[in-house]
This record gives sequence, C-alpha cells and structure tokens, in this order.
Amino acid sequence: MFDLKGKSAFITGASRGIGRSVATCLAQAGADVALVGRDMAALDETLAAVKGAGKRALALKADVTGAESVEAAVAAACNEFGKIDILVCNAGVQKLKPFLEMGPQDWRGLIATNLEGAIVTMQSVGKRMVAQKSGVILAMASIYSFVGAPGNTIYCMTKGGLLQLSRALAVEWARYNVRVNAICPGWIETDLTKPYMQDQKVIDAGLRQIPARRFGKPEDIGPLAVYLASDEASFVTGQAYVIDGGQIAH
Ligand SMILES: NC(=O)c1ccc[n+]([C@@H]2O[C@H](COP(=O)([O-])OP(=O)(O)OC[C@H]3O[C@@H](n4cnc5c(N)ncnc54)[C@H](OP(=O)(O)O)[C@@H]3O)[C@@H](O)[C@H]2O)c1
Repeated sequence: MFDLKGKSAFITGASRGIGRSVATCLAQAGADVALVGRDMAALDETLAAVKGAGKRALALKADVTGAESVEAAVAAACNEFGKIDILVCNAGVQKLKPFLEMGPQDWRGLIATNLEGAIVTMQSVGKRMVAQKSGVILAMASIYSFVGAPGNTIYCMTKGGLLQLSRALAVEWARYNVRVNAICPGWIETDLTKPYMQDQKVIDAGLRQIPARRFGKPEDIGPLAVYLASDEASFVTGQAYVIDGGQIAH
C-alpha cells in the first residue's frame, strides 16, 4: 500500500522543516522528487537525504512570489521527469505582530508567499495535471485555517484562504481526476516557530494547549502526505486533515 513508484512530485519549500520531511517521505515511498526553494545550499541538504532513498531527485531554485520563476521550475521538473503527479504547496512564511502594527509591506509579504505563491504554483502545475487528466495537490494549510491566534492575524487569514482555495479547486477539478486536499499542522518545531520557542512561559502555555503535551515534529507530517498522494486515497478530495496533538479538539 501507499506505493508511489513511477510518480513524480514537486514540493515547494523543500529546503527545510516540514517540506523537507514531506519530500523525504514521498521519496521513501518511491516517488521522484523536485525540491523547490530559494536557498540552494539548504535544498542540497534535502537532496542528499532524498538521494539516500535511491530516487531521482533534483533541486530547483525558485521564488514562489514570482510566476515566471515558478513556471521555469515546473518546466525543468517536467523536462526531467516527463510529468508531475504530485504537487505539495508548502512554501510559507509567518510574521508575528499585533494587527494594528501591521503595515502594507507586512501583509503583502504574507499574502504574496502564502496565498499568491500557492495560486501561481497550482496554476502552473495544475494546467499540466488537467491536461493529463490526473494529479494530486496538497496545500500546507494550518490549524490557523480554523482558529485565530493573537499577533498572527494576517497569517491566519492566508491559511484560511489557502484552505478554501484547495476546497474550491477540488470541486472545480474533480472532473479532471485532479484531487486537492489540505494538511493542517498544529505547532511543529521548525524555523517558522522558533520565535515562539525563545520564552519558557510561551512554551509552557503552548504545551498546556496541546493535549498530547508535546510539540509536533516535521516527521509527524510526511506520512499523511504519502497517504493522500497515493492511489489508496483516490476517493479523498476537498478535505482538511489536522495534525496537532489534539490542540483544536478541546
Ligand atoms: N511549523 C509549524 O508549526 C506550522 C504549522 C502549520 C503550518 N505550517 C506551514 O507549513 C509550511 C512549512 O513551514 P515550516 O514550519 O517547515 O517552516 P520553515 O522551516 O520556515 O520552512 C519554510 C519553507 O518555505 C520556503 N519558502 C518561504 N518563502 C518562499 C518563497 N518565496 N519561495 C520559495 N520558497 C519559500 C523556505 O525555503 P527557502 O527559504 O529556501 O526559500 C522553506 O523551505 C508553511 O506553509 C507553514 O505556514 C507550519
């Protein structure tokens, strides 16, 4: 089960954190992987980990805030692998600031990466999936697609929008055999959450919110991506999967 041999994946934000874990798990399940991000040195580290899994892999420098940059990376991946079967829209940024202190540069930066970055990537890869009449898209949304958090309003807005984008696209593209689902992590220990982890009081308060009494690790996310990308999930589309140690269940 969950065999991805013969499939190829395009993963944005594969240089670190959750994206690196997802890329590694997809490769371990048999997929060829195109690793996408801006930091080539970090992408090369993921590349080395993935090549250990014995699959074809390539690192592609691209900035998701630029449609041309994304299109060039997608074309390079298609050139290498012949097609893309799995897209993981994972690239994302966060900015912690009270709402009243957010300026246009702050919110445009979050929207440009978290929302527009996903839109242009889904369009670029998705037009090929629609043409080949098959494909799987995974959007890395968040528990903040559902609930709010002080100092994180615009991020929450982008993640709510990303979840709705994936649901709506699932409805539009089911007729082309393209499935779209969202993965919604809770608090995962990565560079993105480092700003929270500096203060013991914040850490303790965070742990009290999580019934599992631990923070997540990037490795908690990859296996779900493998399932959703596999043929065993062929009837699963338009859904949101929360992985949060029970945080938003209580
Ligand atoms: N950590 C959490 O608790 C958590 C919870 C819920 C959802 N998420 C979501 O999960 C995703 C991954 O987060 P993470 O925690 O793994 O964060 P991370 O360690 O900071 O990694 C973020 C990734 O996004 C890439 N990225 C950022 N801006 C980009 C751009 N303009 N173009 C291309 N790539 C870009 C980065 O690559 P480069 O720097 O190489 O460009 C990096 O690989 C994000 O969408 C985040 O919102 C995280």
